[in-house]
Amino acid sequence: PQTIYFTRHGESEYNVLGRIGGDAALSPRGERYALALAEHFNSLADVEPVAVWTSELRRTKQTAAGIHAPKRAVRALNELDAGICEGLTYEEMQERFPQEFAWRDQDKLRYRYPWGESYIDIMTRLRPVLAALQEEHNVVVVGHQAVLRCMLGYFLDAKLDELPYMNVPLHTIVKLTSYGYKYNIEMIKMPI
Ligand code: F6P
Repeated sequence: PQTIYFTRHGESEYNVLGRIGGDAALSPRGERYALALAEHFNSLADVEPVAVWTSELRRTKQTAAGIHAPKRAVRALNELDAGICEGLTYEEMQERFPQEFAWRDQDKLRYRYPWGESYIDIMTRLRPVLAALQEEHNVVVVGHQAVLRCMLGYFLDAKLDELPYMNVPLHTIVKLTSYGYKYNIEMIKMPI
């Protein structure tokens, strides 16, 4: 069977503050996750990955740093661009842009941040990556919440409207194994 691994980056300084987007570094907890992840793959607790794909953002590169495999930074794996709301907390967004906040709440899938993106936009830019990934085996994808919701939703045949609400927790390896046409999912919560 074909196996692909997915994980969010370790907790970032922005995650700690509840701020969205940006290019923050890992928090101390996030760094511990990076070590645990490297240990997991380097010690053959799982298979040896042939490649690690990250986004271009610091938090995914730092998370992948210790894994012994060639790394590739893929622009299409960057997190949802929140446009004018980058760097805000959800409370600040609600205060400063109440109409935007309400619109997003009404249709999170299609809502596009001004000067930014929607979940549908992410699906569009992910298409080539998803096609390439289907040809791969033992690749580890270190990504972001919204992007991983789209990727996992695609492989698991989720309904489009469910994508923005899929649960992709931090500090967890999502192992997808394909038996021909159907993907089996396993969540490995790392003790850190
Ligand atoms: O909060 C982390 C984060 O990755 C943000 O950068 C991003 O805007 C957000 O999650 C996406 O999640 P949601 O669509 O639920 O706001």
